Amino acid sequence: MKPLEICILAAGMGSRMKSDMPKVLHPLAGQPMLAHLLATVQALEPSKIHVVVGQGAALVQQAFAHREICWALQAQQLGTGHAVMQALSEVSARSRLLILAGDGPLISLSTLKLLLASDADLAVLTVDQPDPTNYGRIVRDNSGCIKAIVEERDATDEQRLLTEVNTGVMLAAAEQLKTWVGQLTTNNVQGEYLLTDIVAIAGAAGARVEPVKATDAGELQGINNFIQLAQAERFYQARQAEQLMLAGVHLVDPARIDIRGNLTAGRNVHIDANCIFEGQVSLGDNVRIGPNCVIKDSVIEAGVELKAFSMLDGAAVAEGCQVGPFARLRPGTRLLAKAAVGNFVEVKNTVLGAGSKASHLSYLGDASIGAQVNIGAGTITCNYDGVSKHQTVIEDRVFVGSNTALVAPVTLGAGATVAAGSTITKDVKQQQLAVARSRQTAIDNWQGPRDK
Ligand code: UD1
Ligand code: CA
Repeated sequence: MKPLEICILAAGMGSRMKSDMPKVLHPLAGQPMLAHLLATVQALEPSKIHVVVGQGAALVQQAFAHREICWALQAQQLGTGHAVMQALSEVSARSRLLILAGDGPLISLSTLKLLLASDADLAVLTVDQPDPTNYGRIVRDNSGCIKAIVEERDATDEQRLLTEVNTGVMLAAAEQLKTWVGQLTTNNVQGEYLLTDIVAIAGAAGARVEPVKATDAGELQGINNFIQLAQAERFYQARQAEQLMLAGVHLVDPARIDIRGNLTAGRNVHIDANCIFEGQVSLGDNVRIGPNCVIKDSVIEAGVELKAFSMLDGAAVAEGCQVGPFARLRPGTRLLAKAAVGNFVEVKNTVLGAGSKASHLSYLGDASIGAQVNIGAGTITCNYDGVSKHQTVIEDRVFVGSNTALVAPVTLGAGATVAAGSTITKDVKQQQLAVARSRQTAIDNWQGPRDK
């Protein structure tokens, strides 16, 4: 078997996007389009991946600088055939070359394998698109081989009725491709070197040009404008939602969930509407997620309840915790078993011990909080002096009264109590009561302005 090389065409700016960003960098499910395609073709273990860049080349190369990619520069966008020409000098004549369009990022591994199974000289991946507008139409001959690919603007009214379209994905031996591509001309309405014209060139040279028809039109949609990008996003999200539901996750509305990364879930997980998951998120058994939560790079263990409008980023939430509504857990937050964080509480780089509670209106930053601690409403860790961050240590069973400012660095010893309204600047020892507020004074028979 010949070695496999991949060529992804990504030199166009995507003029129909009317955007300053190269088309393949526009995100789909939180990742640039090109990232999806690279991840999929990587699984084929090709010997080389060529990406043809042109407009915004530096931006695209920068975004994938860490990847092993053989970049080809197409300084002027003279057509898809011309784009392939730019890569061919680096393609081994002994290889098979799989050509893909950078703006068709949803193609699946199984569809690629279907095409790779073809032994035709030139295999063209096609699909029936319910709305074929703007795709190149596949014109077959009597034997079922492809006679030509006709672009929308060149097609007759009759050809426009054809629903079988060119997906932009082709496969051929590199040696033959080099000959065919070398014969392309700009003698067409577009005045471009059209890759699609190699079909007729190869056919005339006696090569076997065969369509390989895929079944899933959704994954083969091309993205040329923001309407199509949004349609591709919905398609992708619907697929992910389906997979989750088949795995036993109860999604209240599969049309209102966005997974921009990787979400894993245990048994009996319930997710209400409008939640967004980003990066790596894992949900343990019996987790319940209320509506409108945004969860990024977090681990949520069994039995946790996340109430509406909570936002988590880089948090680890242990078994049985209660979070929200309206809670914000920032990076470095660790809630130990059965801890509770309620509404309008922000937590950052803080461990909240087992069974501890911060139920209302608090900021806990750079703190180490023990077990069974009660953080009263309005408690603030004053962790920042304008230059550095400082630690607050709150040991087990501490009771912090409402509206307390804890000026870090400071330690509250185990079992200590802080009176409401205190500003704590010095350590409090175990079991002590600290009161740090002005005393209440009372004046008898006060004659106020009203009484004068
Ligand atoms: C192309 C196909 C069409 C097919 C459709 C599938 C041709 C001539 N047409 O049309 O038959 O149905 O894709 O989505 O191939 N590119 C370059 N350099 C260029 C021109 C394009 O790298 O000079 C890249 C673009 O960045 C893009 C891809 O090639 O990623 C396809 O180009 P595009 O202009 O989007 O072609 P379509 O009109 O969609
Ligand atoms: Ca396109």
